[in-house]
Amino acid sequence: MEPDLAGGIAVLDFGGQYAHLICRRVRGLGVYAALLPHQTTLAELEKLGVAGAILSGGPYSVYAPGAPTADPGIFAGELPILGICYGYQLMVKAHGGEVARAGRREYGRSRVRITEGGGLFKGVGGGGLEAWMSHSDSATKISPTMEVLAASDGSPYAAVRLSGGRQYGVQFHPEVSHTDMGETILANFVLDVCGSERKWSMQGFLQRSVEELSKLEGRVLCAVSGGVDSSVAAAILSRAVGQRLRCVFIDTGLLRAGEREKVEATLGRDLGLSVAFIDASERFLGGLKGASDPEQKRMVVGKTFAEVFEEFASTEGPFEHLAQGTLYPDVIESGRSSGPAAVIKTHHNVGGLPPGLSMHVVEPLRELYKDEVRELGALLGLPETALRRHPFPGPGLAVRVLGEVTGEKLAVCREASKIVEEVLEEAGAYSQAWQAFAYVGDDRVTGVLGDERKYGFQVTVKVVKSVDGMTADWSRLDPATLERISSRITNEVHGAVAVAYNLSSKPPATIEPQ
Ligand code: XMP
Repeated sequence: MEPDLAGGIAVLDFGGQYAHLICRRVRGLGVYAALLPHQTTLAELEKLGVAGAILSGGPYSVYAPGAPTADPGIFAGELPILGICYGYQLMVKAHGGEVARAGRREYGRSRVRITEGGGLFKGVGGGGLEAWMSHSDSATKISPTMEVLAASDGSPYAAVRLSGGRQYGVQFHPEVSHTDMGETILANFVLDVCGSERKWSMQGFLQRSVEELSKLEGRVLCAVSGGVDSSVAAAILSRAVGQRLRCVFIDTGLLRAGEREKVEATLGRDLGLSVAFIDASERFLGGLKGASDPEQKRMVVGKTFAEVFEEFASTEGPFEHLAQGTLYPDVIESGRSSGPAAVIKTHHNVGGLPPGLSMHVVEPLRELYKDEVRELGALLGLPETALRRHPFPGPGLAVRVLGEVTGEKLAVCREASKIVEEVLEEAGAYSQAWQAFAYVGDDRVTGVLGDERKYGFQVTVKVVKSVDGMTADWSRLDPATLERISSRITNEVHGAVAVAYNLSSKPPATIEPQ
């Protein structure tokens, strides 16, 4: 099922924060790229038939004990390679050069002077470029077989080429948007040096996936939540297996306002899927009674979900397959692909299957990034409003109601969040935000309503910007928007008397309050 990497680009993962971004940028050029563990050997790459490899950056020093290494064959062979930051330093070292702690660290934008144009820098212009740097080590000596292509204030060897023109190294990050002409530099490597053809497209992916998925025998069960990933997974499966797909929506009582209606409209009306709705809210809320510890609440929600799901599967079954909307970063981050960047995030749906289920798992989106899933969803006819919905956590409002989950706090949280979303939509700011919601705990403050003192909830509003949810920054909303959110919440949400705005980034905070 996995797309063929032949003629595409392998991105070897040395743990750098931008490794995924390199993949996404190459795919954006129309060439398929996949992240592979840094230990992948030249023989393995040749067997896959890749046209070239990009060695990512990483947080290590090449001489540090235990620092990730690459197969020496890669540097000795003929396969085109581009080393970025740490990947570049490994290349320098492999060819007999030296790397040392830089006299001058470079973080952020740096001016890069191109000393030899053409090739990697074709179309970049002689004036040089502003490039994004993030390194404390630098190449201090390069082998005589390498030529310098560019320099910056902090590194005389900001870009190099091995004679023969198959291997390149850059100290800066062409994949980040802060580097001028970064896309041109990557395109020069991928299309010219590697000779990859622009054959990767979402239309092609859709066609191939439908062809493959239609070979599944038996019935497929898919839990939908109203979120982008499960909706797109259901839509593609429905195209492939038609009536053999059964969708189920479990109302946990912890969902956003109007979620069921949204699912009925987009999956039911727009795509013609039949969705079974199960109202299990009492069971979830009953299970959560008395639980105030965040981890305990997550556990209760996860366990109850598994039980309800299993009951549905056994009464409506048998189902041979279980579809999940797992995305590419989930697969990598949960350690199913073993790069040094692998961090286990237990809250993602990978590995979170009900233990008693014996169904074959189908993950039609496991090769895709979120923005690609949105593109695929559009091709499948999902409306734009459904595709740009913010992510929502599996445990739902249980992690946005601090302390014990009560009906009263749930109502405040749900209504206030709806207002936050509506105001951002009106202000044209919804799509720029990664997530936007309100949360509430047991803090009560004194207010005046009319002439009366009123002791009520303090609601906190959180709006963050993020690329992938791994890091996030609080949104600098304009004061008029904040003002509108605040006054609507105190006027319209029963029990709310004050509104605060959360000013914390991730790290050190996380996106969800619990
Ligand atoms: P945190 O709170 O860890 O969240 O900064 C990062 C992203 O993951 C989402 N999230 C979850 N998603 N189950 C999920 O399916 C969970 O338990 C969970 N916790 C957090 C969060 O909404 C954000 O987008």
